Amino acid sequence: MRFGHFDDDRREYVIHRPDTPLPWINYLGTEAYFGIISNTAGGYSFYRDARLRRLTRYRYNNAPFDLGGRYLYLRTADGEFWSPTWQPTQTELDDYECRHGLSYTRIGSRYRGIRAETLYFVPLGETLEVWRLKLTNEQQSAVELSVFSSIEFCLWDAQDDATNFQRNFSTGQVEVADGVIYHKTEYRERRDHFAYFACSEPLEGFDTARESFLGPYRSWDRPVVVQQGESTGSIAHGWQPHGSHHVKVTLQPGETREIGFVLGYWENPRDAKFDPPGSQTVDKRLVRPVIERWLRQECVDEGFAALGRRWDELLGGLQVDTPDGDTNRMVNIWNAYQNMVTFNMSRSTSFYESGIGRGMGFRDSNQDLLGFVHMIPERARERILDIAATQLPTGGAYHQYQPLTKRGNNDIGSGFNDDPLWLILGVAAYIKESGDWSILEEPVPYDNQPGSEESLYGHLQRSLRYTLERLGPHGLPLIGRADWNDCLNLNCFSDTPGEAFQTTENASGGVAESVFIAGQFVLAARELAGIALCLGRPAQEYLDAAEKMAGTIAEHGWDGAWFRRAYDFRGNVIGSASNDEGQIFIEPQGMCVMGGVGVEDGTAVTALASVRERLATPHGIILQQPAYSSYRLELGEISSYPPGYKENGGIFCHTNPWLMIAEAIVGNGDGAFDYYKRINPSAREALSEVHRCEPYVYAQMIAGRDAPTHGEAKNSWLTGTAAWNYAAITQWILGIRPELEGLRLAPVLPSGWPGFTAVRRFRGATYHITVERGGSRSLLVDGAPIDGDVLPAAPAGTEVTVTLTL
Ligand code: BGC
Ligand code: NOJ
Repeated sequence: MRFGHFDDDRREYVIHRPDTPLPWINYLGTEAYFGIISNTAGGYSFYRDARLRRLTRYRYNNAPFDLGGRYLYLRTADGEFWSPTWQPTQTELDDYECRHGLSYTRIGSRYRGIRAETLYFVPLGETLEVWRLKLTNEQQSAVELSVFSSIEFCLWDAQDDATNFQRNFSTGQVEVADGVIYHKTEYRERRDHFAYFACSEPLEGFDTARESFLGPYRSWDRPVVVQQGESTGSIAHGWQPHGSHHVKVTLQPGETREIGFVLGYWENPRDAKFDPPGSQTVDKRLVRPVIERWLRQECVDEGFAALGRRWDELLGGLQVDTPDGDTNRMVNIWNAYQNMVTFNMSRSTSFYESGIGRGMGFRDSNQDLLGFVHMIPERARERILDIAATQLPTGGAYHQYQPLTKRGNNDIGSGFNDDPLWLILGVAAYIKESGDWSILEEPVPYDNQPGSEESLYGHLQRSLRYTLERLGPHGLPLIGRADWNDCLNLNCFSDTPGEAFQTTENASGGVAESVFIAGQFVLAARELAGIALCLGRPAQEYLDAAEKMAGTIAEHGWDGAWFRRAYDFRGNVIGSASNDEGQIFIEPQGMCVMGGVGVEDGTAVTALASVRERLATPHGIILQQPAYSSYRLELGEISSYPPGYKENGGIFCHTNPWLMIAEAIVGNGDGAFDYYKRINPSAREALSEVHRCEPYVYAQMIAGRDAPTHGEAKNSWLTGTAAWNYAAITQWILGIRPELEGLRLAPVLPSGWPGFTAVRRFRGATYHITVERGGSRSLLVDGAPIDGDVLPAAPAGTEVTVTLTL
């Protein structure tokens, strides 16, 4: 069953009914000002940091699930009112349609002969969002309408806002001037910054106190102001600052009117003086022209068109035409789009991540780069330098950092022993794409401490050493608190049943080992060796270390038919046929093969066959089997999940592309593409009532075979699944793969495909690629045959024609 359809020409997903199984959301903003928006206009906005600069309030885990947002109410003179985006009044609309596009959302409806369409987007280069409401009277007679807007301001720090009521109920401050509502809480003591909410039309009235707008004991579905048709002109003193405009319009039959709203963030430069000095009012001199500009229709039209052009350009980095429509749609539009979103949000802000708990992830952001770097390499460069600056002097890393401060997050700390190796993989991906070797010479501090700078190359070396200095009893890397699998906490132990738990101390003192990190080390060491060789620096020690680790994996990490997962604190094996549960895990099968382990001696093929036999389901590949049926202290969080969910036997989608890549590495194009199709969201659209999450983006997890809700997706949007699937399909299956020496073309296609075409921008040149099956293999570049599969570098600005016959 479907709840909408894809409109590929307009690059939109069109939702047909407001009551989707879950809120189906989208993101506004691509640079510094961001928002999330659901198909019923729920969600919130923030400037740069979802925790520390939250503009509007949102209450998670609400009932209904999605309540609170960018709301509008329409009211006719006879007193009837409704929300043109369905929420929050839930009026049964005669017509409803939500179009989620690339960084914009358009929600349209018709009720009582009034067509209303609201477009929401963030113009490029601005720290504001525009809502453009278009009203059309489709009745035979004139209509007098009241329009009310409504947002609830958040007192900036979303964590504090949700908890510190004794203080916050006294701090809220607003100001209304020339019809603009300014939310200026704390602006004097901290900085000269504020939020504003403006409307293009002369106001009939306004409200800035939530209680006055809603009325006591009322909710958003029945605000007293809307019901009575009259604003109160309230000014919030503490409590809950709110923003609501009241506009009256009379529409003749057939007439269309546009009303603009602008919600924005403004920070005056540090040296700006209050106007007049000592005044308690917001200094509006700089912001006023910005507001005025974005309230003008032509400016909005132009800003919206510019956003569209920006996306043309971003997506123009790679466009493919394959025999499979779901592949084309995901690669050309939605997967690339989700890559941008994960790059910007890391794991901080979605309908499943509160924006409070997690900032940017060290491991996560390095992987998100893989899907984003070809779009804007300069921003990937900046991100890499930010991440590297949170690396610790030991070579370890803060697991997360706050985007606004760029400082490591001490609450979560460090000790995830896979983290540092991702930096090598992220940097390698950046250089392969951009050819920018200079990044390696950038001085970067450790833990952001001035004076501790070392070249980025030095950071990479330190990352490798971090692993080598932490090997366990079998010579495998110590796992620390966890590796990629956050929930495999193998240094938990207790001599008193039911008592002790993991602490950072015993975790770092613990001797649990990870085969996954071993595989990742081989991959990272070989990547660094490749970089060193190109630079003419010593590389042999990295190659030797990789070789040695591969040997250790063969000796202690191979179980006979697959790679083992780990050894726990007491030296017991995990992920082995000798275990009663958790016999085979997906992660080491993918990572070891990606590192090249077992590819020559055939063990890789055996491991992949085991995955197919034991872990593959029609909904994707399960993380491990058999799932743990009860909690086990020595395994930690993984065994706390019910069987079939999350890391305990869920289809943890992030890992699936590793298996696609592994299949491609061993030359199995059918196997690789088969796995790709199983979790492709577009290919699952027809199962929407089972899948339940948005059919246009990947979710972190799909419930596994052991779960009562097998096939149900959860935690959509912010997942490494996006970047890795993009890498799997574009770089390994279609085989258009950036390498240090240039662009490689090495497809491993499903056998039923006659070929495909693609246009790829790479280091400034544009490659027009045709791959076709034919008599004998040849690779022609501008008509001339070349050896090997790496395309010779073409000067920036040139167009290159490439024909590969398989
Ligand atoms: C989740 C993991 C997640 C981690 C983040 C765990 O509870 O299951 O998927 O990575 O929390 O801290
Ligand atoms: C989600 C986290 O963001 C990611 O870092 C982790 O690797 C996976 N969960 C698996 O636990």
